[in-house]
Amino acid sequence: MSLPEAEVMPVPEKPRDTVPTQVFREVMGHLASGVTIITAAQQAAPVGMTATAVCSVSAKPPMLLVSLTAGSRTALGVEQSKAFAVHLMAHDSQNYAEQFAAAGDHFAGVSYRRDEQTGVPVLQDVLGYFLCLVEHAVDIADHVLFVGRVVECEVKAPGHHPLVYFDRKYRKVALSESQPGSLEPWGSTQDYGLPGWGLPT
Ligand SMILES: Cc1cc2nc3c(=O)[nH]c(=O)nc-3n(C[C@H](O)[C@H](O)[C@H](O)COP(=O)(O)O)c2cc1C
Repeated sequence: MSLPEAEVMPVPEKPRDTVPTQVFREVMGHLASGVTIITAAQQAAPVGMTATAVCSVSAKPPMLLVSLTAGSRTALGVEQSKAFAVHLMAHDSQNYAEQFAAAGDHFAGVSYRRDEQTGVPVLQDVLGYFLCLVEHAVDIADHVLFVGRVVECEVKAPGHHPLVYFDRKYRKVALSESQPGSLEPWGSTQDYGLPGWGLPT
């Protein structure tokens, strides 16, 4: 999109310094993000990682974007299978998120089916998922942005709360004070960080 001439911002005379990476990370850490697990297939082997860099691109047609570290097993798998699945994790799936972010076998003890056409593993115990075919892949810095067209998606656990990552901790959401209601419709005894959150007394 090109802006009308009068609205084009003037180029600053002095080049601005980029902020230090540590400062950027600190501020980004305060962007609350839903935790996902992204999967793909590499030479028929399942690959996958925990990821928060996921966003909706368009609804017509349904497309979404993920940002994966270049050279990671998952990025290589997405390149190879030209497809990926994004799984939205429920708040009681922190163990999955930890496993898919750590070194070692990410799929140990994890139930999944393979999509027939692409071979992409689709995880069973999730809040919801999207299956995407890659339409664009763009290298930026040390990441690859994959834009996928959604060919399948489903909410698998309606009413479950999501797993959220904020300030370097896994958390679950609470309703705002202006929206009274049950915080815990289905029961959980674990509290990942929000003060005052827990089972109703
Ligand atoms: C909460 C959280 C969010 C993450 N988000 C991303 C992400 O969006 N993109 C990415 O490339 N790595 C992300 N990571 C790191 C990967 O999960 C991690 O490097 C993983 O081991 C890569 O697996 P792989 O090399 O088998 O693909 C995240 C880690 C955590 C704990």
